[in-house]
Amino acid sequence: MIRVLTNDGLEATAIENLKAAGIEVVNEHIDQDKLGEALKEFDALVVRSATKVTKEVLDKEEGGKLKLVVRAGVGIDNIDVVAADEKGVTVKNTPNASSGSVAELALAHMFAVARFVNIANVTMRDGEWNKKKYEGIELSGKTLGIVGMGRIGRSLGAKATALGMKVVYTDLFGKQDSLVYDFLSMEELFKASDFISLHVPYDKTKGSLIGKKEFDLMKDGVYLINCARGKVVNEKALLEALESGKVAGAGVDVFEQEPTLNEALVKHPRVSVTPHIGASTKEAQNRIGEEVVSTIRTFFNI
Ligand code: MLT
Repeated sequence: MIRVLTNDGLEATAIENLKAAGIEVVNEHIDQDKLGEALKEFDALVVRSATKVTKEVLDKEEGGKLKLVVRAGVGIDNIDVVAADEKGVTVKNTPNASSGSVAELALAHMFAVARFVNIANVTMRDGEWNKKKYEGIELSGKTLGIVGMGRIGRSLGAKATALGMKVVYTDLFGKQDSLVYDFLSMEELFKASDFISLHVPYDKTKGSLIGKKEFDLMKDGVYLINCARGKVVNEKALLEALESGKVAGAGVDVFEQEPTLNEALVKHPRVSVTPHIGASTKEAQNRIGEEVVSTIRTFFNI
């Protein structure tokens, strides 16, 4: 019998569906230091972002039967893919499931910073009535620069277009011929955009994509949204850019360190923050569950 460990939990229906397919599911969390040894008894491991599937974990599994690691989500930065490959362990993710949810959250942050939704909420709770202070701007008519035109970027592009925004994009893999949006170089995009939304993975060999140099290229009063990975933006440089007025507002779902300890960023009046909840919708979690089940069933031919 195929044994699967769902170390960071999994949607209930997906667990039922795996069991119905004759798979034994252990829906428990095993701590990082004991994980490698425990994995010897499992054919597959399902993780979200909490579990780190490091080389050390995989080395400790040596002699075991692990064949597949499924990341229930998009980013696979918590999995050492090279080490897994060397050990013959296949790594899969669920790239299709949460695009719409992440795109909607990026949009929610855009509205929040453009219209002071978060800070108005917070200050009203303290008895303030800042009607004059919170004069915002409309999204309609503004240029949205999307950095990374994958599934999330495309979903955001469609929604932003419907709102009357002009969408431009840049992508690490070059121009996409099927798209109606203008393709710009990174530098051109920084110069042209009123809003910039990031949808690229973090590349640790290159470091943060957005630092002081990049902020300097942007329009004065730009709005920056990061629902990708925290380290894509240098938080110190972001705070400086907020203080200087270069950045009018920032929507931040992901942080250099999670949970974040960066109070200056979290409490900044022109920042809208959420605790890495891009994929946290019922719909996305259902779809992620379905994709995990189908990935495991296909892999083991069940
Ligand atoms: C993802 O990579 O799927 C999202 O960032 C959500 C997550 O990590 O939980």
